[in-house]
Amino acid sequence: MQPYTSRMELPENSPLVVFANREPYIHVHSPEGVEVRRPASGLVSALEPVLQNRGGLWIAHGSGSADAEHCDSDGRLDVPPDAPRYQLKRVWLSPSERRAYYDGFSNEALWPLFHIAHHQPIFRKGDWDAYVRVNERFARSLSQESPRPAPTILVQDFHLALVPRILRSDLGLQGAIPRIGLVWHIPWVPADLYRICPWSADILIGILGADLVTFHTQSYCNNFLECCERLLECRVDRDRQSVTYQGHETRIRAVPIGIDPAPVIGHSPPELRTYVQQRFGIRPEILALGVDRLDYTKGIPERLQAIERFLEQNPVYLGRFSFLQIASPSRTDVPAYREFAQTVRAEADRINSRFMPRLSPGDTLPIHIESTHHEWESIAVLYQAADLCLVTSLHDGMNLVAKEYVWSKRDGSGALILSRFAGASTELQEAFLVNPYDIEDIADTMRTVLATDKDVKRARMLRLRERVSSNTAQSWADEVLETLAA
Ligand code: F6P
Repeated sequence: MQPYTSRMELPENSPLVVFANREPYIHVHSPEGVEVRRPASGLVSALEPVLQNRGGLWIAHGSGSADAEHCDSDGRLDVPPDAPRYQLKRVWLSPSERRAYYDGFSNEALWPLFHIAHHQPIFRKGDWDAYVRVNERFARSLSQESPRPAPTILVQDFHLALVPRILRSDLGLQGAIPRIGLVWHIPWVPADLYRICPWSADILIGILGADLVTFHTQSYCNNFLECCERLLECRVDRDRQSVTYQGHETRIRAVPIGIDPAPVIGHSPPELRTYVQQRFGIRPEILALGVDRLDYTKGIPERLQAIERFLEQNPVYLGRFSFLQIASPSRTDVPAYREFAQTVRAEADRINSRFMPRLSPGDTLPIHIESTHHEWESIAVLYQAADLCLVTSLHDGMNLVAKEYVWSKRDGSGALILSRFAGASTELQEAFLVNPYDIEDIADTMRTVLATDKDVKRARMLRLRERVSSNTAQSWADEVLETLAA
């Protein structure tokens, strides 16, 4: 296998290395043989085109049941498997490490800590110890290779907060000082909420090994600066937007992530209706759509209750309106996620049973939940078919579904109902913004959207498309890398 190369102009031809917990290609055993799966991950869909364009190395947890059979003894393989453009290196974790580092510390402690969705974080010392160990394993999978020239490193997200400091010290000792950026894809909370974490200072110290830390909004940056100021002995410079800890300065910047605005393959309205009918067995006059991982931060039960309220108040839509929720299973080993999946199913059944007696034969049920993973191609068609899309996360770092929906509406049709507490709302101002906790607000907004003149909605959607096309995954990566190189 060839060593990884980068085609991008990085300082001193420094190769690009991405660290992320999630791998972009997962080999799994299935009854049909080995399948290569793409995960339901906004991070992967944004970063993958960047690696495909620039080349480089992606270091991730090898989580698939057939992963080990599809790489060399070093965990490396060329990807995409059918037309290689860059390399993936898989890091192996034991089942107990995965449980403690991923299910435990990442998803039961940090995830609820940073998403104010009123789920109490669970802090276990054993999970923290595993998190430290796994972060070391990730960092050393690169530093043990003594890479030359010093790479440009982009560490992704809350799973790997300690990697920047470990890399800085390991690679520094080898005399190859790398440039390290950390991209934080979820929200960052104010200090009073953050400091309940028993290891709050250790996490900050780990992160401050980076030269640059980016968040998706300025308010997350401000929260992070406040946490450093209050919890560490360091110098916070608000004008420069930087933190200096033990003589090393880390710049903090808001760089909102975008999507890859690939050309949209258009389908005619009759084709779209036929697709929805054949694939999902429904043929509503008005199709509303939700596309989320089954995660309690996404506000799905509140969304269903808002639909119930909307139909209560506007019975004229009964039988004509359907809400289709694509709900990809996620983090199913975490009890809170399993309970959440049951709650969503029970809410949908309750609401459907309530309205069923008022439907005529041939009418469509109000709510359809599809809790299986759907490939991008299928979701792209659904986006085009949907008259409105509900993105009502209780709290979300960015939310790329909102941007993907807008981009799919190349004719300017449709409408986006968007949570004020999703990072995307700072950019997508022409969306119909709602408080996702306020069921009346969502229900009223649905009514408003359906009553709004088509041309008015089209103008809003076209403006949103301009915004999405002017801030893409590629321009996001360029800005992060340029800022890092500066
Ligand atoms: O939003 C945070 C995030 O880690 C994303 O980066 C990713 O798209 C999503 O959660 C999926 O999570 P997981 O990798 O745990 O399935």
